[in-house]
Amino acid sequence: MTLQILSLRDNPELIGACHGLVRDWFFDFDVIHKQLDDTLSSLDKLPQAYVLTDGGAPVGWVGLCVNDPIETDEYTPIVGPLMIAESERNRGYGALLLYHARRAAATLGFDTVYLTSSHVGYYERFGFREIGMTRYIGGKPTKVYTAQAIKEN
Ligand SMILES: CC(C)(COP(=O)(O)OP(=O)(O)OC[C@H]1O[C@@H](n2cnc3c(N)ncnc32)[C@H](O)[C@@H]1OP(=O)(O)O)[C@@H](O)C(=O)NCCC(=O)NCCS
Repeated sequence: MTLQILSLRDNPELIGACHGLVRDWFFDFDVIHKQLDDTLSSLDKLPQAYVLTDGGAPVGWVGLCVNDPIETDEYTPIVGPLMIAESERNRGYGALLLYHARRAAATLGFDTVYLTSSHVGYYERFGFREIGMTRYIGGKPTKVYTAQAIKEN
């Protein structure tokens, strides 16, 4: 097992595998496919994506983007989406990617990160704290979490 976390911008050949994970495990959302494409085409520092590979094979990825499709733009940057292939779950890989996204955010100059989720009890385990509720565009309510970006010493 050789785990690596690679920046999608530095390894654009991984984009096909990332789109595949969205199709398989994340409802095939158009907005997420677009986020991946924007990661490679944007000249801004966001969005970013970080891909976890095991022995060279992509097993999951996390995004860091300006915003989720929510009713407010006060939460930026957003960590997400986060997805791990089903066969690779419960090995701490989601936690690894969350930690990596917080370090990457600090490198990009952010002090704080946010995320939205309806999962109960997952993100709290990995340093995130619930700070309120908002709504996705379309009206579905979601919780908002925050965590500090992690600066390297
Ligand atoms: C959620 C997800 C990223 C977790 O990835 P993972 O690599 O399995 O997570 P980790 O190994 O770091 O953590 C596993 C622990 O989290 C718990 N967990 C996993 N999914 C959870 C959920 N939806 N809600 C609460 N706890 C959850 C597991 O039970 C496990 O607990 P244990 O250590 O007590 O056994 C993964 O299940 C996934 O890709 N799901 C589909 C996409 C998704 O829902 N993404 C998040 C959107 S907000």
